[in-house]
Amino acid sequence: MQGQAESTITPSHSKPYVRAHFSSQFAFVLAAAASAVGLGNLWRFPYLAAKYGGGAFLITYLALVLTFGFTLMLIEVAIGRHTGLSAIHAFRALSKRFAFIGVIESIAPIIIISYYCVIGGWILKYLIEYVQGAGSIIATDTFFNGYISQSIEPIVYCSIFASITMVIVASGVKKGIERLNKISMPLLIILSVFLSIYVMLQPGAIDGLSYYLIPDMDRFGFGTIVAAMGQMFFSMSLASGVMITYGSYMSKKDDLTHSVSQIEIFDTLVAFLAGLIIVPSVFVFSGGEASAMSAGPGLMFVTLPKVFLSLPFGEIIGFCFFALVLFAAITSSVSIAEAVISIFGDAFRWWRKKSVAVVWIGILLISMLPSLGYGAWSSVTFAGLTILDLMDFCVSSVLMPLGALLTCIMLGWFVGPQVIVNEVEQSAPFKRKRLFLVMLKWVSPVFLVVILVSSCLNTFGLISI
Ligand code: ALA
Repeated sequence: MQGQAESTITPSHSKPYVRAHFSSQFAFVLAAAASAVGLGNLWRFPYLAAKYGGGAFLITYLALVLTFGFTLMLIEVAIGRHTGLSAIHAFRALSKRFAFIGVIESIAPIIIISYYCVIGGWILKYLIEYVQGAGSIIATDTFFNGYISQSIEPIVYCSIFASITMVIVASGVKKGIERLNKISMPLLIILSVFLSIYVMLQPGAIDGLSYYLIPDMDRFGFGTIVAAMGQMFFSMSLASGVMITYGSYMSKKDDLTHSVSQIEIFDTLVAFLAGLIIVPSVFVFSGGEASAMSAGPGLMFVTLPKVFLSLPFGEIIGFCFFALVLFAAITSSVSIAEAVISIFGDAFRWWRKKSVAVVWIGILLISMLPSLGYGAWSSVTFAGLTILDLMDFCVSSVLMPLGALLTCIMLGWFVGPQVIVNEVEQSAPFKRKRLFLVMLKWVSPVFLVVILVSSCLNTFGLISI
C-alpha cells in the first residue's frame, strides 16, 4: 500500500507541527506487534502460565485476547485513527465530558516507561555479562539481588537503555521505529524459534511440555482470570496511549479488524513460544520441582541463568535468550516512549525534537525511583510493594482497567459505538461487529469492574484470590 504524506495539524491557537504516518498497513501491524511483544511476553507470561495452571491459563488467556483484547484494541486504534490525535486530546475530541480519560491514559505510559527502562537496564547488564563469558557468575544465587541493590550501576544501565530508546524515537516514525522493527522482529522470531526447538530437544523436555500445556485445574481459579486479564492489558499495550498513538499514524485505507487480528496472533504466538522456551527448561532443570516453577518474576533473572549453565552451549543459549529479550524490550519501550512524546507534542504543540529532549530527561530522572527502590530506598514500600512493583500495580491493575472501563462506558452508553463502527467500515466490512457491540456495552464494563475491584482488594490483603 502506498505511503501517506506527513500531515500538518494546525489548531487555531498555536503554530503547526508535523504528525507522522506509517508507510503501509504492514508497517503499522509490525510496529503494533513489536510494541505488544515485550517483557510481558518473555518475562511475565511464562511465570504466570506456570503458576496458574499451564493449559488452563493458556486457554483463559486466549479466550480473553479474542474477545476483550480484540474489542479494546480495536477501540483504541479506531479512536486514534478517527481523531488523528494521541490519548491526551483524542478523548476530548470525542467527548468533552470524558476528556479526563485521556489524562488517565497519558499518565499510564509515563509510569510504564520509567520502570520498563529499569528492567531493560537489567537485561542489558545480563547480556553484557554473557558477552564477557560470565554466565556462571550471574547464575549464582546472590547475583541478581546483589546487583539490583546497588545504587549506581543499575541506574547507568537503565540510562543506556533509555537513551537507546530515545535515539530511535528521535529518528522519527519511518526512519526510527519502522527501520528498527524491520530488523529486530525477524531476529526475534528466529531466536525464539531456535531456542524453543533447542529446549524441546533436551532430555525430559516432553514432561515439561506437558506441565506447560495440559490444564491443571488445581492451579486454576478466579486468580487465573485476574492474572490473565492483567497480562492481556500489559502485553497488548492497551489503555496506555500506545495503540491510540499508533492508530493516529495509520492510513484511512488500512483494514482495522484484520490488522488487530494479526497483532493479536503475533503477540500470543511469541508469548506461547516464550513459555515453550522457559517452562520446560526450568522443569527439566529442577527435576519437576513445583517451587522452581513458581519462582515468579525472579524466574528470568535468577532461575534461567542456572538453567542455561546446565545446558550444553549454555553461554551461547543464555546470550541468545537475553538478546531476544532485549530486542523485544526495546521495540516495546520505543512504542511507549513514542506515545509519551506524541502526548507532549499534542498537549503543548511541541516539535518532535523538543518533546524527545524533555521526555528523555524526564525518564532519566523518574526511573531513578524504581531503581533505587531495590537499593538505597528499599525501605520505601507500600502494602509490601517495592517502588517498581507499586508502579506496575498502579498501571496494570488500576489505571489500565480503569481507562478501559471508562472508555467502554463512554462509547457504549454516551457517545455511542457508531463512531468506532464507522471508522472500521471506512476501509473494510466489520466482520465481528455483533461480538464487538455486546462486548463493548455489556460484557466488558461488568467484567472490568469485577477485575478492578478484586485485584485492588487482593493487593491490600482484604481478599485472597
Ligand atoms: N506490551 C509491552 C510488553 O509486553 C509493554 O512488554
